[in-house]
Amino acid sequence: MKRIFITGANRGLGLELTRQYLERGDQVFAASRNPDAATELRALRAQYPDRLTLIALDVTDPASINAARRAVEAVTDGLEILINNAGIYPGAGADGQAASQRLGALTVEDALSVMKTNAIGPLLVSQEFLGLLKAGQKGRIISLSSGLGSLTWKASGDPYHYSASKAALNMYMRALAAEIGNQGLICILVDPGWVRTDMGGSSAALPPSDSAKGIIRLAEQLHAEENGSFVTWRGEPVPW
Ligand SMILES: NC(=O)c1ccc[n+]([C@@H]2O[C@H](COP(=O)([O-])OP(=O)(O)OC[C@H]3O[C@@H](n4cnc5c(N)ncnc54)[C@H](OP(=O)(O)O)[C@@H]3O)[C@@H](O)[C@H]2O)c1
Repeated sequence: MKRIFITGANRGLGLELTRQYLERGDQVFAASRNPDAATELRALRAQYPDRLTLIALDVTDPASINAARRAVEAVTDGLEILINNAGIYPGAGADGQAASQRLGALTVEDALSVMKTNAIGPLLVSQEFLGLLKAGQKGRIISLSSGLGSLTWKASGDPYHYSASKAALNMYMRALAAEIGNQGLICILVDPGWVRTDMGGSSAALPPSDSAKGIIRLAEQLHAEENGSFVTWRGEPVPW
């Protein structure tokens, strides 16, 4: 049985990852900003009371990150997997609002908000949970990036902030991978594909179940030489 901590677990890919890990028999710490309002997670907890713990976590708030780590430590002394899944893409799926990430409408507030959630948050969560991952068996950090964060593939302006935040996330996790690789830990970036969630929208190619299944398989099969890599949910390399 593995112990997995997942951020943004109340909906979308995070919820599906939570569901699939529970179905496999693993123990899940499902983090969300407001567990009291997380209806699907609460239903899962009724189904798996011994293996699902709901944790409050806003990845942009250092005090909340610290409290989440202490809440996990009240239950267990180690983790095998941290999934940095929580993310925002302002305007995604809603055409009218997407203008906020286009030239002419860019603001410092939007830039900072996206950067804090998608890049700085995952870095600080990883830093806080490092001790628990070292105490677990073969600790792994899986961070949800995006093909939109690839410099090589960038061929449009919009979305400025989302793309830049995922490129920053990639660099933060490469740096972390370089530092923790010799401690038996593995840290990778995964592009989950275009997934039918609130963020991906209803026209997206993939159901969350396929993407989550691929990510779980990837996490199972990781080798030390893959530390610091950027791959799709199918394990194919993504150009930086
Ligand atoms: N869907 C796609 O096509 C796609 C493609 C490439 C990459 N990705 C990446 O995959 C990950 C999951 O995406 P998704 O499609 O499942 O997105 P989603 O359906 O929009 O869900 C996002 C999750 O992140 C949480 N979140 C947002 N801000 C947070 C914060 N400050 N602290 C804690 N949690 C926060 C949300 O919680 P609330 O309910 O509280 O807002 C929600 O649980 C993201 O990192 C995304 O960038 C998705």
